[in-house]
Amino acid sequence: RSAGIIGAAFWRGQSRLGVHEGPDRIRSSGLLERLKQQGCAVKDYGNLVFDDVDESSVGLLKSVAAVGGANRRLSEAMKAVKMDGHTAVMLGGDHSLAIGSIHGHSAAVGELSVVWVDAHADINTPLTTYTGNFHGQPMSFLLHELHSKVPVLPNFSWVKPCLSAKDLVYIGLRDVDPAEHYILKMLGVKVFSISEVDRLGVARVMEETCDYLTTRGKKPVHLSYDIDAIDPSVTPATGTPVVGGLTYREGVYITEHLSQTGLLSAVDLVEVNPQLGKTEADVQSTVNTAVDLLLGCFRRLREGNHPTDYT
Ligand code: ARG
Ligand code: MN
Ligand code: MN
Repeated sequence: RSAGIIGAAFWRGQSRLGVHEGPDRIRSSGLLERLKQQGCAVKDYGNLVFDDVDESSVGLLKSVAAVGGANRRLSEAMKAVKMDGHTAVMLGGDHSLAIGSIHGHSAAVGELSVVWVDAHADINTPLTTYTGNFHGQPMSFLLHELHSKVPVLPNFSWVKPCLSAKDLVYIGLRDVDPAEHYILKMLGVKVFSISEVDRLGVARVMEETCDYLTTRGKKPVHLSYDIDAIDPSVTPATGTPVVGGLTYREGVYITEHLSQTGLLSAVDLVEVNPQLGKTEADVQSTVNTAVDLLLGCFRRLREGNHPTDYT
Protein backbone atom coordinates (compact mmCIF):
# COMPACT_ATOMS: atom_id res chain seq x y z
CA ARG A 1 0.00 0.00 0.00
CA SER A 2 1.51 3.30 -1.08
CA ALA A 3 0.26 6.74 -2.04
CA GLY A 4 1.69 8.69 -4.96
CA ILE A 5 0.73 12.32 -4.59
CA ILE A 6 0.45 14.85 -7.43
CA GLY A 7 -0.30 18.51 -6.77
CA ALA A 8 -2.24 20.25 -9.54
CA ALA A 9 -2.41 23.92 -8.57
CA PHE A 10 -4.65 24.82 -11.47
CA TRP A 11 -7.69 27.08 -11.32
CA ARG A 12 -8.60 28.15 -14.85
CA GLY A 13 -11.46 25.68 -15.09
CA GLN A 14 -13.44 28.23 -13.06
CA SER A 15 -13.20 31.91 -12.26
CA ARG A 16 -12.63 32.25 -8.52
CA LEU A 17 -9.10 32.97 -7.32
CA GLY A 18 -7.47 30.75 -4.72
CA VAL A 19 -8.26 27.16 -5.62
CA HIS A 20 -4.64 26.77 -6.82
CA GLU A 21 -3.62 26.99 -3.14
CA GLY A 22 -5.39 23.70 -2.41
CA PRO A 23 -2.48 21.27 -2.84
CA ASP A 24 0.02 23.11 -0.62
CA ARG A 25 -2.57 23.86 2.00
CA ILE A 26 -3.63 20.21 2.18
CA ARG A 27 0.01 19.13 2.43
CA SER A 28 0.80 21.65 5.16
CA SER A 29 -2.11 20.32 7.20
CA GLY A 30 -0.12 17.12 7.66
CA LEU A 31 -1.47 14.79 4.97
CA LEU A 32 1.86 13.09 4.26
CA GLU A 33 2.85 12.66 7.91
CA ARG A 34 -0.52 11.23 8.84
CA LEU A 35 -0.54 8.80 5.93
CA LYS A 36 2.88 7.56 7.06
CA GLN A 37 1.67 7.29 10.66
CA GLN A 38 -1.08 4.97 9.53
CA GLY A 39 1.45 2.68 7.82
CA CYS A 40 1.17 3.96 4.29
CA ALA A 41 4.28 4.57 2.17
CA VAL A 42 4.16 7.97 0.52
CA LYS A 43 5.85 9.44 -2.52
CA ASP A 44 5.20 13.11 -3.20
CA TYR A 45 5.66 13.94 -6.88
CA GLY A 46 5.37 17.66 -6.09
CA ASN A 47 3.29 20.21 -7.93
CA LEU A 48 3.00 20.05 -11.70
CA VAL A 49 4.44 22.94 -13.66
CA PHE A 50 2.01 24.17 -16.26
CA ASP A 51 2.96 26.07 -19.41
CA ASP A 52 1.81 29.64 -19.67
CA VAL A 53 -0.85 29.44 -22.31
CA ASP A 54 -2.87 32.34 -23.57
CA GLU A 55 -6.18 32.55 -21.74
CA SER A 56 -8.35 33.33 -24.70
CA SER A 57 -11.96 32.24 -24.75
CA VAL A 58 -13.77 30.35 -27.47
CA GLY A 59 -17.27 31.78 -27.36
CA LEU A 60 -18.47 31.29 -23.78
CA LEU A 61 -15.73 28.80 -22.97
CA LYS A 62 -13.07 30.27 -20.70
CA SER A 63 -9.31 29.51 -20.94
CA VAL A 64 -9.77 26.65 -23.36
CA ALA A 65 -6.14 26.14 -24.33
CA ALA A 66 -4.94 26.46 -20.72
CA VAL A 67 -7.39 23.80 -19.52
CA GLY A 68 -6.47 21.47 -22.38
CA GLY A 69 -2.74 21.95 -21.83
CA ALA A 70 -2.80 21.52 -18.05
CA ASN A 71 -4.85 18.36 -18.31
CA ARG A 72 -2.50 16.89 -20.87
CA ARG A 73 0.37 17.35 -18.43
CA LEU A 74 -1.65 15.91 -15.57
CA SER A 75 -2.66 12.91 -17.66
CA GLU A 76 0.99 12.05 -18.29
CA ALA A 77 1.89 12.52 -14.62
CA MET A 78 -1.01 10.38 -13.48
CA LYS A 79 -0.05 7.62 -15.87
CA ALA A 80 3.51 7.68 -14.53
CA VAL A 81 2.37 7.47 -10.90
CA LYS A 82 0.20 4.44 -11.72
CA MET A 83 3.08 2.82 -13.63
CA ASP A 84 5.17 3.26 -10.46
CA GLY A 85 2.58 1.12 -8.66
CA HIS A 86 1.04 3.66 -6.30
CA THR A 87 -2.52 4.48 -5.45
CA ALA A 88 -2.59 7.90 -7.06
CA VAL A 89 -3.78 11.01 -5.25
CA MET A 90 -4.44 14.16 -7.27
CA LEU A 91 -4.76 17.29 -5.15
CA GLY A 92 -6.59 20.09 -7.01
CA GLY A 93 -7.16 22.59 -8.17
CA ASP A 94 -10.55 22.78 -9.80
CA HIS A 95 -12.58 19.85 -11.06
CA SER A 96 -11.69 20.35 -14.75
CA LEU A 97 -8.57 18.39 -13.71
CA ALA A 98 -10.59 15.19 -13.64
CA ILE A 99 -10.16 15.10 -17.42
CA GLY A 100 -6.41 14.55 -17.16
CA SER A 101 -6.57 12.55 -13.98
CA ILE A 102 -9.05 9.95 -15.20
CA HIS A 103 -7.56 9.91 -18.71
CA GLY A 104 -4.05 9.23 -17.36
CA HIS A 105 -5.29 6.66 -14.85
CA SER A 106 -7.07 4.78 -17.62
CA ALA A 107 -4.04 5.04 -19.91
CA ALA A 108 -2.07 3.12 -17.27
CA VAL A 109 -4.56 0.50 -16.06
CA GLY A 110 -7.22 0.18 -18.77
CA GLU A 111 -10.94 0.18 -18.09
CA LEU A 112 -12.03 1.92 -14.91
CA SER A 113 -15.03 2.47 -12.70
CA VAL A 114 -15.55 6.04 -11.56
CA VAL A 115 -17.27 7.12 -8.35
CA TRP A 116 -17.99 10.86 -8.57
CA VAL A 117 -18.88 12.46 -5.24
CA ASP A 118 -20.11 16.00 -5.80
CA ALA A 119 -22.99 18.44 -5.43
CA HIS A 120 -22.70 18.82 -9.21
CA ALA A 121 -22.70 16.37 -12.12
CA ASP A 122 -20.00 18.26 -14.09
CA ILE A 123 -21.36 16.67 -17.26
CA ASN A 124 -22.18 19.78 -19.30
CA THR A 125 -20.76 19.70 -22.81
CA PRO A 126 -18.99 22.75 -24.29
CA LEU A 127 -22.30 23.38 -26.06
CA THR A 128 -24.66 23.05 -23.07
CA THR A 129 -22.62 24.99 -20.48
CA TYR A 130 -24.00 28.38 -19.61
CA THR A 131 -21.16 29.43 -17.32
CA GLY A 132 -18.36 28.54 -19.76
CA ASN A 133 -16.39 27.03 -16.85
CA PHE A 134 -14.63 23.76 -17.64
CA HIS A 135 -14.99 22.48 -14.09
CA GLY A 136 -18.65 21.94 -14.96
CA GLN A 137 -17.80 19.83 -18.03
CA PRO A 138 -15.05 17.24 -17.42
CA MET A 139 -17.30 14.19 -17.66
CA SER A 140 -18.39 15.08 -21.21
CA PHE A 141 -14.81 14.65 -22.43
CA LEU A 142 -14.36 11.28 -20.73
CA LEU A 143 -17.51 9.39 -21.72
CA HIS A 144 -17.57 7.37 -24.95
CA GLU A 145 -21.29 8.08 -25.22
CA LEU A 146 -20.80 11.86 -25.38
CA HIS A 147 -17.91 11.84 -27.84
CA SER A 148 -20.04 13.07 -30.76
CA LYS A 149 -21.43 15.94 -28.65
CA VAL A 150 -18.03 17.46 -27.91
CA PRO A 151 -16.59 19.87 -30.49
CA VAL A 152 -12.93 20.06 -31.50
CA LEU A 153 -11.11 22.55 -29.23
CA PRO A 154 -7.54 23.89 -29.09
CA ASN A 155 -5.22 21.73 -26.93
CA PHE A 156 -7.86 19.02 -26.51
CA SER A 157 -7.00 16.78 -29.46
CA TRP A 158 -5.02 14.41 -27.17
CA VAL A 159 -8.16 13.60 -25.11
CA LYS A 160 -9.72 10.27 -25.99
CA PRO A 161 -12.87 9.16 -24.19
CA CYS A 162 -12.01 6.29 -21.85
CA LEU A 163 -15.12 5.64 -19.74
CA SER A 164 -18.50 4.02 -20.35
CA ALA A 165 -21.63 5.51 -18.81
CA LYS A 166 -22.40 2.18 -17.12
CA ASP A 167 -19.10 2.35 -15.21
CA LEU A 168 -19.94 5.67 -13.57
CA VAL A 169 -21.77 6.30 -10.29
CA TYR A 170 -22.61 9.70 -8.85
CA ILE A 171 -23.17 10.36 -5.15
CA GLY A 172 -24.45 13.53 -3.48
CA LEU A 173 -25.89 15.46 -6.45
CA ARG A 174 -28.14 18.39 -5.59
CA ASP A 175 -27.39 21.12 -8.15
CA VAL A 176 -27.79 19.70 -11.65
CA ASP A 177 -28.43 21.87 -14.72
CA PRO A 178 -31.41 20.92 -16.97
CA ALA A 179 -29.16 19.80 -19.84
CA GLU A 180 -27.10 17.72 -17.41
CA HIS A 181 -30.21 16.10 -16.00
CA TYR A 182 -31.32 15.23 -19.53
CA ILE A 183 -27.91 13.69 -20.32
CA LEU A 184 -27.91 11.62 -17.13
CA LYS A 185 -31.38 10.22 -17.93
CA MET A 186 -30.59 9.66 -21.60
CA LEU A 187 -27.44 7.70 -20.80
CA GLY A 188 -29.00 5.86 -17.86
CA VAL A 189 -26.22 6.88 -15.50
CA LYS A 190 -26.46 5.52 -11.95
CA VAL A 191 -27.10 8.47 -9.64
CA PHE A 192 -27.47 8.50 -5.88
CA SER A 193 -28.54 12.11 -5.45
CA ILE A 194 -28.64 13.59 -1.99
CA SER A 195 -32.30 12.47 -1.89
CA GLU A 196 -31.22 8.84 -2.23
CA VAL A 197 -28.70 9.37 0.55
CA ASP A 198 -31.63 10.66 2.66
CA ARG A 199 -33.89 7.76 1.74
CA LEU A 200 -31.47 4.85 1.82
CA GLY A 201 -28.75 6.05 4.17
CA VAL A 202 -25.12 6.21 3.21
CA ALA A 203 -24.36 2.56 4.11
CA ARG A 204 -26.96 1.24 1.67
CA VAL A 205 -25.86 3.73 -0.99
CA MET A 206 -22.29 2.45 -0.75
CA GLU A 207 -23.37 -1.20 -0.82
CA GLU A 208 -25.47 -0.56 -3.91
CA THR A 209 -22.69 1.47 -5.52
CA CYS A 210 -20.20 -1.36 -5.12
CA ASP A 211 -22.71 -4.04 -6.17
CA TYR A 212 -23.57 -2.03 -9.25
CA LEU A 213 -19.95 -1.54 -10.23
CA THR A 214 -18.67 -5.04 -9.46
CA THR A 215 -21.43 -6.94 -11.31
CA ARG A 216 -19.77 -5.41 -14.36
CA GLY A 217 -16.40 -6.90 -13.41
CA LYS A 218 -13.94 -5.75 -10.78
CA LYS A 219 -12.38 -2.78 -12.50
CA PRO A 220 -10.00 -0.44 -10.66
CA VAL A 221 -11.95 2.39 -9.05
CA HIS A 222 -11.24 6.07 -9.57
CA LEU A 223 -12.79 8.22 -6.85
CA SER A 224 -13.27 11.84 -7.88
CA TYR A 225 -14.17 13.77 -4.74
CA ASP A 226 -15.32 17.38 -4.98
CA ILE A 227 -15.17 18.94 -1.52
CA ASP A 228 -18.46 20.74 -2.25
CA ALA A 229 -20.23 17.39 -1.93
CA ILE A 230 -19.96 17.95 1.83
CA ASP A 231 -22.28 20.45 3.49
CA PRO A 232 -20.94 24.03 3.39
CA SER A 233 -21.36 24.27 7.17
CA VAL A 234 -18.38 21.86 7.31
CA THR A 235 -16.48 22.74 4.12
CA PRO A 236 -17.32 26.38 3.31
CA ALA A 237 -14.03 27.23 1.58
CA THR A 238 -15.03 26.20 -1.93
CA GLY A 239 -16.09 28.03 -5.09
CA THR A 240 -19.60 26.73 -5.70
CA PRO A 241 -21.07 25.75 -2.31
CA VAL A 242 -24.58 24.25 -2.28
CA VAL A 243 -26.68 23.97 0.89
CA GLY A 244 -27.94 20.61 2.11
CA GLY A 245 -24.87 18.47 1.52
CA LEU A 246 -23.35 15.29 2.92
CA THR A 247 -22.46 15.36 6.59
CA TYR A 248 -18.83 14.95 7.61
CA ARG A 249 -19.67 11.42 8.73
CA GLU A 250 -21.37 10.45 5.48
CA GLY A 251 -18.49 11.95 3.54
CA VAL A 252 -15.87 9.95 5.44
CA TYR A 253 -17.97 6.78 5.33
CA ILE A 254 -17.83 6.84 1.53
CA THR A 255 -14.02 6.79 1.61
CA GLU A 256 -13.85 4.10 4.32
CA HIS A 257 -16.17 1.85 2.37
CA LEU A 258 -14.37 2.24 -0.96
CA SER A 259 -11.02 1.72 0.71
CA GLN A 260 -12.17 -1.59 2.21
CA THR A 261 -13.07 -2.96 -1.25
CA GLY A 262 -9.38 -3.00 -2.16
CA LEU A 263 -10.25 -1.68 -5.62
CA LEU A 264 -9.45 1.98 -5.05
CA SER A 265 -6.73 2.88 -7.52
CA ALA A 266 -6.78 6.69 -7.68
CA VAL A 267 -8.40 9.61 -5.87
CA ASP A 268 -8.97 13.24 -6.83
CA LEU A 269 -9.59 15.77 -4.05
CA VAL A 270 -10.62 19.02 -5.69
CA GLU A 271 -12.18 22.45 -5.24
CA VAL A 272 -10.65 23.31 -1.85
CA ASN A 273 -10.23 27.10 -2.07
CA PRO A 274 -8.39 28.50 0.98
CA GLN A 275 -9.16 32.07 -0.12
CA LEU A 276 -12.90 31.61 0.17
CA GLY A 277 -13.29 30.90 3.88
CA LYS A 278 -14.77 33.86 5.79
CA THR A 279 -12.55 33.00 8.74
CA GLU A 280 -9.38 30.99 9.28
CA ALA A 281 -11.54 28.45 11.13
CA ASP A 282 -13.65 27.99 7.97
CA VAL A 283 -10.54 27.27 5.95
CA GLN A 284 -9.15 24.88 8.58
CA SER A 285 -12.42 22.98 8.76
CA THR A 286 -12.48 22.61 4.98
CA VAL A 287 -8.86 21.52 4.71
CA ASN A 288 -9.03 19.16 7.71
CA THR A 289 -12.07 17.48 6.19
CA ALA A 290 -10.19 17.06 2.91
CA VAL A 291 -7.31 15.41 4.81
CA ASP A 292 -9.69 13.09 6.68
CA LEU A 293 -11.33 12.04 3.42
CA LEU A 294 -7.92 11.14 2.00
CA LEU A 295 -6.90 9.22 5.13
CA GLY A 296 -10.15 7.29 4.79
CA CYS A 297 -9.07 6.31 1.27
CA PHE A 298 -5.97 4.64 2.74
CA ARG A 299 -7.60 2.22 5.17
CA ARG A 300 -8.06 4.53 8.13
CA LEU A 301 -11.05 3.38 10.17
CA ARG A 302 -12.72 5.52 12.79
CA GLU A 303 -13.09 2.49 15.08
CA GLY A 304 -9.29 2.56 15.40
CA ASN A 305 -6.40 0.84 13.67
CA HIS A 306 -3.23 -1.02 14.60
CA PRO A 307 -0.26 -2.20 12.55
CA THR A 308 -0.41 -5.84 11.38
CA ASP A 309 2.84 -6.60 13.26
CA TYR A 310 1.62 -5.01 16.51
CA THR A 311 2.55 -6.82 19.72
N1 ARG B 1 -23.20 23.32 -13.35
C1 ARG B 1 -22.42 24.51 -13.14
C2 ARG B 1 -21.52 24.76 -14.35
O1 ARG B 1 -21.52 23.97 -15.27
C3 ARG B 1 -21.60 24.41 -11.86
C4 ARG B 1 -20.47 23.43 -11.91
C5 ARG B 1 -19.71 23.38 -10.62
N2 ARG B 1 -18.63 22.43 -10.71
C6 ARG B 1 -17.71 22.22 -9.78
N3 ARG B 1 -16.75 21.36 -10.06
N4 ARG B 1 -17.71 22.83 -8.63
O2 ARG B 1 -20.82 25.75 -14.40
MN1 MN C 1 -19.13 20.53 -7.22
MN1 MN D 1 -17.18 19.03 -9.25
